[in-house]
Amino acid sequence: MRAAPVLDAKTRGALSDDAEAWGREWRRDWPAHVLDRYRIDLATEFLGRTVPHPIGKGSGQLSLRADQLEADASAGLAFTVLKTVIAQNGLGEQRMAAWAVHESRMRVERRRAADGREGWTVTWKGRGWDQSFEEYLVLVRTARALDSAGQLLAIPSVKYHLPIGDEPFDLDEYAFTTRALEDAWGGSPLLLEKDFSPTLAGDARADERATVLRWLAEVPVLIRSAARGPVGIGLKLMNARFDDAFQRDMVAAAAAGADSITVFNRLWDPAAGVAYGGWDLSGRNLAVLDSAPRGTQPRSGTGNITSGRMIVEYANRGCSTVQLHTFFQLPLSAYPAGRGPRLARALHALVFAPEDGLLVALLELEAEGRLHRRDGVLHFRDLPHGTA
Ligand SMILES: Cc1cc2nc3c(=O)[nH]c(=O)nc-3n(C[C@H](O)[C@H](O)[C@H](O)COP(=O)(O)O)c2cc1C
Repeated sequence: MRAAPVLDAKTRGALSDDAEAWGREWRRDWPAHVLDRYRIDLATEFLGRTVPHPIGKGSGQLSLRADQLEADASAGLAFTVLKTVIAQNGLGEQRMAAWAVHESRMRVERRRAADGREGWTVTWKGRGWDQSFEEYLVLVRTARALDSAGQLLAIPSVKYHLPIGDEPFDLDEYAFTTRALEDAWGGSPLLLEKDFSPTLAGDARADERATVLRWLAEVPVLIRSAARGPVGIGLKLMNARFDDAFQRDMVAAAAAGADSITVFNRLWDPAAGVAYGGWDLSGRNLAVLDSAPRGTQPRSGTGNITSGRMIVEYANRGCSTVQLHTFFQLPLSAYPAGRGPRLARALHALVFAPEDGLLVALLELEAEGRLHRRDGVLHFRDLPHGTA
């Protein structure tokens, strides 16, 4: 049991007034209000860019289209990772073509964790981007236009060829895909995430530990040598089918070449043949992060982030940002706000919920003497990200 919160009545009153007011009407400039009213600066870093707060959207079915990105910008999301595209060579051939399958039906469901807690998961049999590569480049250009207009940072995600055993990497795919993304991105550095997905964890390709570690060590080097200019690379690690010690070995292998590590994509259920989330996912992720070697590069947390308190859990384990998917898909009745678009309702719950929102979590850390103001301002950045 956590000790009773020690916030004064005035602060608690402000939090509940805000929960009420922002639940009625949401604005994209909500971080400015947080700074103004509470002197809390939520600014942080994602792949070398300063973002106004830590909450981003993970790659997936919610970042396939321009209208979804526009909705992200209007809600005031910090960043979005576009759906994962499958790399190809100049002839349109894809060594990872098995990941470019079409599947539309998603089911948002309750999932009971091993410890009995009821969480949420999205059941879906699809994999990567299933339209043409040219259509993906159009989406990247749209994303860049939003970024240039100061509306939203949105970056591509790629699944490049991953060889089995000591087979060579398909360098043509690395070269063609990376350069095409650089052209569509049109600036420097290109920022991208490289996805190691749960379906990959469940695939025979990932049976050998040495193979997986080789991918993590070599892929960033290959992307950088394929590119014409500098690239900021986030490696999104899977939950492999091995033990926690191997999960830590993956973090160490990725730390050598990545600029950021996204930890960790969903768990794989071999019996049902689907990826899943919920409390088992956050439980495993946080436990591994507790004991994983802490590199100097920032991490981005992902997995069962359903409250501001959970954002702080990831932040305390080196995550300067978080990436959500499932919480942006819940039935409307699951959010406390009674109106507004789904994304605004989700952000409202994550930030302003008086019991477990980000603001109350940070203010409690201050009250407990674990987070201190600098020049009167409490900084999200001062949570222990990135350093040993
Ligand atoms: C339907 C669905 C599709 C997804 N597709 C991708 C993907 O293409 N690439 C990727 O890196 N992650 C993908 N993810 C993983 C999410 O980005 C996220 O990291 C993961 O679901 C954990 O966060 P959550 O518990 O908030 O859902 C997908 C997740 C879901 C639920």
